[in-house]
Amino acid sequence: MKSNQLSVEQAISWATEQLKVGEQPKDEEDLKDEEDLRVGEELKNEEELILEEKLKNEEKLKAKQYHAMSPQAQVEQQSASVDASYLVSHVLDKSFTWLKTWPESLLSQSQAERLQACVKRRQAGEPIAYITGVKDFWTLTLKTNPSTLIPRAETELLIEQTLAQLDTKQALNLLDLGTGTGAIALSLAKELPNSQVYGCDFQKGAVELAIENAQFNQLENVHIFQSNWFSLVPKLDFDAIVANPPYVEPGDPHLLQGDLVFEPNSALVAEDNGLADIRNIANEARAYLKADAPLLLEHGYNQGKQVRDILQQYGYSKITTIADLDNNDRVTLGFK
Ligand SMILES: C[S@@+](CC[C@H](N)C(=O)[O-])C[C@H]1O[C@@H](n2cnc3c(N)ncnc32)[C@H](O)[C@@H]1O
Repeated sequence: MKSNQLSVEQAISWATEQLKVGEQPKDEEDLKDEEDLRVGEELKNEEELILEEKLKNEEKLKAKQYHAMSPQAQVEQQSASVDASYLVSHVLDKSFTWLKTWPESLLSQSQAERLQACVKRRQAGEPIAYITGVKDFWTLTLKTNPSTLIPRAETELLIEQTLAQLDTKQALNLLDLGTGTGAIALSLAKELPNSQVYGCDFQKGAVELAIENAQFNQLENVHIFQSNWFSLVPKLDFDAIVANPPYVEPGDPHLLQGDLVFEPNSALVAEDNGLADIRNIANEARAYLKADAPLLLEHGYNQGKQVRDILQQYGYSKITTIADLDNNDRVTLGFK
């Protein structure tokens, strides 16, 4: 191994250190000065050996420190190391399995420079999915961009619940409102190849992205179009309507935290304590649902009762709220 270049293992370890909670973004000069990232520069033999020894000792020390950490600190450390692995996987265009299999493989100078740039963006808080441009959801890999929400693992509950309500052997017509990346529409289309899935969004950028994702995942039974909720939805008597609409209250402090800072308000925020879009959809959906067909809505952890009340107000029956894996109310459904 040439020690004047970083191996995959060293690159992940370096990026993990940079991404640990509390680490401040470094400016360009500092990054340039990172000795262990001086890829391609001529280091004297003695310096190379010292650097290699230093990295080995750091690894040993880190293993010891990790086991002495509190569970919370271990979670933070794990999250930094997962992020680091995503970034290294992205710049090398290799899977996690490949990284594990070839830890001693060396980064080229341009790969190391791209890793530095990605780490810097992550230190500034940018979501991993915007940096890498992709996010795995259900059984799909979806392209992402700042036109819409990054698909969340919680939303997989909406897919599970929708499938559980349907006679999946039939050829069905399904509608996903506010499709964003196409996460819900495309997952349902993949699970139900004999059905037709319609997905709409009012953001042109999101519509283009969802179409790109349908092509990327080779799904032909999905139809993506631009529409302000139901304004351009065909009158088809849908077998189910699903939506993960904006449901965050304007001014909610969470909007200033984490990924939400980078995601568009148009995907997150709704008036009327976050319930305006849910109310609107619940009201209009009845005219587009078959008799006895379900409407399924994702909502905030503290909105279960309000959403049940809204569905009741508009005449839905068999109304139920389902909690996610963290035991938070997450999906409420009712039947026409
Ligand atoms: C919370 S995001 C959900 C995105 C995607 N369905 C998901 O689960 O990852 C809400 C989406 O609704 C879209 N949206 C907001 N208002 C809308 C409207 N009036 N008509 C159609 N789509 C709308 C946003 O552009 C955004 O893509």
